[in-house]
Amino acid sequence: MRKIPAANTTCDEPAGADAPAAGLTRREALRCAALGGVAAATGAAALPAAAQQAGTAKLAEITEVTAEGVEVVTGKRMVVRFDGKRCIHTRVCVLRQPEVFKANVKGPWIDPDAADPEEVADVSRNCASGAITHTRLDGGPQEATPRVNTVTVREDGPYAFRADLSIDGRPDGFRATLCRCGASANKPYCDSSHKKVKFTATGEPPTQDSQPLAQRGGQLLIEPQKDGPLQVTGNLEITAGSGRTTDRVAGALLCRCGASANKPYCDGSHERIGFKT
Ligand code: SF4
Ligand code: FES
Repeated sequence: MRKIPAANTTCDEPAGADAPAAGLTRREALRCAALGGVAAATGAAALPAAAQQAGTAKLAEITEVTAEGVEVVTGKRMVVRFDGKRCIHTRVCVLRQPEVFKANVKGPWIDPDAADPEEVADVSRNCASGAITHTRLDGGPQEATPRVNTVTVREDGPYAFRADLSIDGRPDGFRATLCRCGASANKPYCDSSHKKVKFTATGEPPTQDSQPLAQRGGQLLIEPQKDGPLQVTGNLEITAGSGRTTDRVAGALLCRCGASANKPYCDGSHERIGFKT
């Protein structure tokens, strides 16, 4: 792993296509796209320059980046990781714990020591995409395996899975948001392209006739099929965005091309539209 330099770039600068011109790395651009504008939205004041510089130096000391681009921040009581490629920009982190997850600061931006570890862990557990994960170093409880496997169908957006996940043959934590519009450049994960392509699909699919599952947890295997749907194997409750359970299954083929007339299920439309992964 390498250290993050106390970069002199800020999230006030343009992200995305303009990022290289602004001196931002792709990782920084991803983060800025996720978090930019939050300070304005929340009315948070910028830190005085000297205080910000001191804070940034401390965060640079404790922040490293893996070869896969995951930021790993080792605080006194917990380790927090951030994988910008998975972030779907819900801003739960910067809105719930702005002292820990700092928007619009220079360079390293996560300070695990700035709040009670349980409060930081709560934000991590509520990061639907799994972009944020944590490990407690203070003897507190680690994130528990979900007792009930769920996938929430998000309005005009991705699937949000919570389970002991295996995705494409690899263990993948307990949380993930997977593309269902077909446009992500980071399939099977959502990269927020659904906004760019103006994907429209209800988050309130009809309720199916289903029986309670004998087992509600256990490992959930997700195998993205080439040019086809997500093949899901394992106990799974499918829920609408409102929280209503719409189906209970031991396996399913879920549409990920965006074209099924029977969403969230695959109806074979990927062949008709020539969906390519
Ligand atoms: S809570 Fe997770 S998905 Fe939402 S902005 Fe923060 S890191 Fe991204
Ligand atoms: S659903 Fe988010 S990129 Fe496809």
